[in-house]
Amino acid sequence: MDKYEYFRGLPEVGIVPRAPHAGPLLRHVYEQEHGRGGFSGKVTHTYHLYPPTNWLPGETRVLDGFAPAWESPLRPIGGTHLLLNVAPAEPARDVYRGMARIVANATAAMNVTAPAAPMDYFFEHHSATMVYFVHAGQGTLETTFGPIEYKKGDFLIVPKGIAHRFELRAGRHYYWMYESFAGDPEKAESPSTGRFITHSESDYRYPRSLDTRNEAGRFEIVSKVGDVYTRRVHPTHPFDVVGWRGDYLPYRFAVEDVRPLVADRSHVPPSGHTVFTLPGCYLCVFTVRSVEKEGMWLPFFHRNFDYLETLGYHFGDFFSGGGVVGPGMVSLHPVGLPHGPKPRAIEKWLDGKAGAVHNEVAVMADFANPTRVSEFALGLRRADYMDTWSGYTTEPRFTWRADRLDEIRRTAERLADARDTLIPPDSALAQEGA
Ligand SMILES: [Fe+2]
Repeated sequence: MDKYEYFRGLPEVGIVPRAPHAGPLLRHVYEQEHGRGGFSGKVTHTYHLYPPTNWLPGETRVLDGFAPAWESPLRPIGGTHLLLNVAPAEPARDVYRGMARIVANATAAMNVTAPAAPMDYFFEHHSATMVYFVHAGQGTLETTFGPIEYKKGDFLIVPKGIAHRFELRAGRHYYWMYESFAGDPEKAESPSTGRFITHSESDYRYPRSLDTRNEAGRFEIVSKVGDVYTRRVHPTHPFDVVGWRGDYLPYRFAVEDVRPLVADRSHVPPSGHTVFTLPGCYLCVFTVRSVEKEGMWLPFFHRNFDYLETLGYHFGDFFSGGGVVGPGMVSLHPVGLPHGPKPRAIEKWLDGKAGAVHNEVAVMADFANPTRVSEFALGLRRADYMDTWSGYTTEPRFTWRADRLDEIRRTAERLADARDTLIPPDSALAQEGA
């Protein structure tokens, strides 16, 4: 027994040998490596009661039509904004049989699932690390490394290849799921703001409670490689792990732990709210935050030439939505097409009717060009979404007037010397002796 306790350089739980591939314990348990980067990247070793290759001969087969909407054909989105209604939970399907593709580019994709049935199998995604956002529902994500409980408002990161299963609690479930085909999501941080804005790695929750199963039976594992789903059957439970060590792990991250960047005298651009970066995609959280005091407190009109923007509305009255969008809906704003506040939203800004708090939560994922939309998503679209900006062509304050240019010239003259109030006072700026 050491006099003092020590941390080891890698997380570990349960019964593990002194080091990977070394020590007498390896003659009694079966070591399995879960590794990225071709034996040189992130890696975790698990120690099993039974060989992980004990699948039953003759039971492995490709499953046709396993998750048809996940493979929904993709097409170019063109120059139209789309607003997608909430996908139905009927017919009742489990998390993966009901998974539906929304958009995809070469390295990332967005999907949605409304599970209403239990998983009677384990799943391994061999082509992507998955980032879930739980819009509605609660349950337990059971994994090789131990269970993770989750609830509404949680992100769940499931690394590529890891065997897992969702145990759903009663109630409605609705998840957005982002696939990263070319690398794991990385925590976003700006070099000038450091490690703890807009969240900290200490906010991540990795499993630590092993739930070792020494069970015999028929245990089905479905794997996905591209659009091929393959089932294999094992005679022992896949979570027969007595210990693990490493840094390739699933984890949970709660949206309430996003501590957003705010700016009293300007407007933080969407990318200032990035929480994860993935190859070809960045993922942002707009959460409850104070309203800018003197800067613009709603988004400027903008057009994004390199990314298609998806925005999932989770909670509240989204600040630029102008009452058009509702919880669970997803908007798709394609490259190049201007967008921004709806007429009802910008009216509040123009009339100086600021509240104190942006009472909203939304998840934005922007996908690099070229990104395509699925036929499934097109089936959810609201036909009237482009019309929700129509106030800009009908309401007198936004439409053509002969005196508009003169009015702005006069206003600019009046405002020429206007200053913010949140600035150093004159006394602080006065020159010595002046
Ligand atoms: Fe946008």
